Amino acid sequence: MKTDFLVIGSGIAGLTYALKVAQEFPQKNITILTKTQSDETNTKYAQGGIAGVTDFDHDSFEKHIKDTLISGDGLCNEHVVEIVVKEGVQRINELIEWGAQFDREPDGDYKLGKEGGHSENRILHHKDVTGKEMERALLEAIRRAGNIKLINHCFVLDIITQHHLGYLVTKSTPDIECYGVYVLNLTTKKIEKISASITLLASGGNGQVYRSTTNPAIATGDGVAMVYRAKGRIENMEFIQFHPTALYEAGVRGQSFLITEAVRGDGGILRNAAGEAFMERYDERKDLAPRDIVARAIDNEMKINGTEFVYLDCRHMDQEKFLEHFPNIYAKCKSIGIDVGKDMIPVSPAAHYSCGGVKTDEWARTSIKNLYAAGECASTGLHGANRLASNSLLEAMVFAHRAYKDSIALISNISKEHRQAVIPDWNAEGTTAPKEMILITQSLKEMKLLMSDYVGIVRNNERLSALIVGWIFFTKKRKHCTKSWKFHHNCVNCET
Ligand code: FAD
Ligand code: SIN
Repeated sequence: MKTDFLVIGSGIAGLTYALKVAQEFPQKNITILTKTQSDETNTKYAQGGIAGVTDFDHDSFEKHIKDTLISGDGLCNEHVVEIVVKEGVQRINELIEWGAQFDREPDGDYKLGKEGGHSENRILHHKDVTGKEMERALLEAIRRAGNIKLINHCFVLDIITQHHLGYLVTKSTPDIECYGVYVLNLTTKKIEKISASITLLASGGNGQVYRSTTNPAIATGDGVAMVYRAKGRIENMEFIQFHPTALYEAGVRGQSFLITEAVRGDGGILRNAAGEAFMERYDERKDLAPRDIVARAIDNEMKINGTEFVYLDCRHMDQEKFLEHFPNIYAKCKSIGIDVGKDMIPVSPAAHYSCGGVKTDEWARTSIKNLYAAGECASTGLHGANRLASNSLLEAMVFAHRAYKDSIALISNISKEHRQAVIPDWNAEGTTAPKEMILITQSLKEMKLLMSDYVGIVRNNERLSALIVGWIFFTKKRKHCTKSWKFHHNCVNCET
């Protein structure tokens, strides 16, 4: 298959880019690939909303910039922060033009929520299901566009570069180029090749690397892994953000239900096992301190008290208002026997967001030619060590737009050699089908355990060393690879 523009991922980043290039180039083909159903994305589960300066009477770009920098712990790229905050408002307006609806006050102004680290109310939301509403509006706009093909159940495996054309590619190869991708078609179970002039990687996050996460099953970091294998640049992967308040449900594995930070923005209070409102002991901003501080405080309280959760107390809040703003959370709690007006909600931190990823410049260009990256898989420099709440959807839109702008010039400069390159079929040599899936599912469980226990919210040298020892044991036990403790690309012994 050949396409002009190839988009990997159907979340906010991929869909925004696809819509824009489709509008600009009605004669060209745009193909979006997605691993499962088109709406099964991190985007769909976003609750709190999208941050943006819309109320200029109380708020300003300067305040949003300052909040983002403080939250990022001194490691944000200030120029990128300015770009996102200032351009974000136009992107939010486009989203509204595409049909997304945000809650409004009776006078027509937007209802603006507040979350940890924000000095002002600036978060536009659609009750507590903002992402679902955005994904709905974007997918409807995609269906209306005539030149976009959205293909579900296509698992992208590898980015095609000169390596696949028979050349040696290393991390120091200057002009690595992307020619398209190899894809496992989950319907036909065949591996197919797709050539593309321009590819956008919008494959989302990697929360599923941990045992407890707010991310759905699709969030396994595939895009970052592909770029790493293709010898592209990756950065800041150590900055995994843990959300302080995932609903604690004993025995629930996989995706944890989120209790949005906006609940604390509306007055919810964290309490430990003894009922003490402990956040004031950790930070003067109490329950609305930036996310990393709150998550570490909860982790500490749980360790001191030997508990698996703390409580979020909403009993004092106006219950009618709670139900109006958070109907989804109210219903979920009710379904497991928690009456938010009478009972405290058990919560614990869970892996939530990857601040690092594929390194991009201010036009979303990666280190690989003809390959852009936007959304959670990209590392733009916005978040530093800790993302400010509700800045992710904003960043995804801003950089999808910038990738589109840059693509306008790039598409007319794609060389004939690139377009006509002969891509070989997928080489399955050395791979075997597992006789029993347990070999894979057990390895996955072990990896999640190791990551959660040793590379969690608080890390130290001892735990990281223990991880490496565990990893050696784990990989040797798996396949007796004698080369080293690391996995190897295309190594039969490692079964990567
Ligand atoms: P996603 O929306 O995750 O989409 C990824 C896409 O890539 C999917 O279509 C997937 O199928 C596809 N994909 C992945 N791997 C492959 C592969 N190998 N082959 C083919 N396709 C592939 N941020 C905010 O700003 N505000 C919020 O209120 C907010 N709340 C959140 C609540 C929850 C529970 C979660 C999990 C996240 C929240 N976030 C929030 C973060 C935000 O939702 C995400 O960072 C953002 O939606 C990511 O968008 P994306 O387009 O980059 O990726
Ligand atoms: C939330 O609603 O608490 C999540 C917001 C975010 O991840 O930005």
